[in-house]
Amino acid sequence: MLSKLQQKWKVSGSQVLIIIIVFACTGLTTAYLTKTITHWFNFDESDFLLKLLLRLAMLIFGYQVVLLFFGALFGQWNFFWTYEKKLLRWMRLMKEEKQHNNTGTTEIRPITHIAIFASGAGSNAKRIIEFFDKHPFISVSLVVTNKKEAGVLHIAAAHGIPSMLIEKEIFFRGNAYVDELNKHQIDFIVLAGFLWKIPATLIKTYPSRIINIHPALLPRYGGKGMYGHFVHDAVIAAKETESGITIHLVDEHYDNGKHLLQVSCPVMEDDTAETLYQRIQQLEHKHFPEVIEACIKQLS
Ligand code: GAR
Repeated sequence: MLSKLQQKWKVSGSQVLIIIIVFACTGLTTAYLTKTITHWFNFDESDFLLKLLLRLAMLIFGYQVVLLFFGALFGQWNFFWTYEKKLLRWMRLMKEEKQHNNTGTTEIRPITHIAIFASGAGSNAKRIIEFFDKHPFISVSLVVTNKKEAGVLHIAAAHGIPSMLIEKEIFFRGNAYVDELNKHQIDFIVLAGFLWKIPATLIKTYPSRIINIHPALLPRYGGKGMYGHFVHDAVIAAKETESGITIHLVDEHYDNGKHLLQVSCPVMEDDTAETLYQRIQQLEHKHFPEVIEACIKQLS
């Protein structure tokens, strides 16, 4: 039950409990306020309709205000404000966000906020950030890295995108930074050269919403320790005539989720890890942003 709510709300386990407490406090407080206010007006028998209207108004509108109050008090403003906005749109009291797409027509679509996780130079991250710059419904809203010297931090700063340096202990044994991702309203995670395994907490929170790129034709040349030039060294050492890229959904195992795209390229006899890397990098830059876009379109 709790893990279903965690998936539905895209929050950590501890946040689910806080949210439930907020709802409980709101319910009790609204009931108390409704009773006190009704009492204060001192309605008599003939004011039955007025009394009913007041109670309804308190339940429908007062409840929402109290909810925001407790949400903010418990440090969950973002979650409850997003909840309220959805409700207001459903009640037609707030306009939908209108996005102009490339065809010139207007479509109604909420923004999908992406976090890019990267440990290295960040050439893929840069390409993705540029591709989605001014995109009508996809925004790169956070860059996450485990290395304080990672090139991707400079790229994020140059584009005015917030970044977050993460620690192993919190990532694997803490809340996997779910609360922080939630603060940035992250809906989708892109691994672009991120070398840590993704903890189960994060996979549960973002089901089918974490995507990875690998510089080889999986399942071959994947798994722990297979990244960057180690992959190309192994491909060349095995005298393969073909390599390529795999873009896939992420599960609890290294390089293992459902394949979304594989594209191959030749391995030349005189290739070094560096020349093969350059050929493969071109494929990555060409296809990765488009696959991310297609994947997000399919989800929403
Ligand atoms: C990319 O080639 C990506 O496929 C690889 O790391 C490189 C990151 O380059 N990922 C893996 O090997 C994952 N197992 P970049 O920092 O220039 O984007």
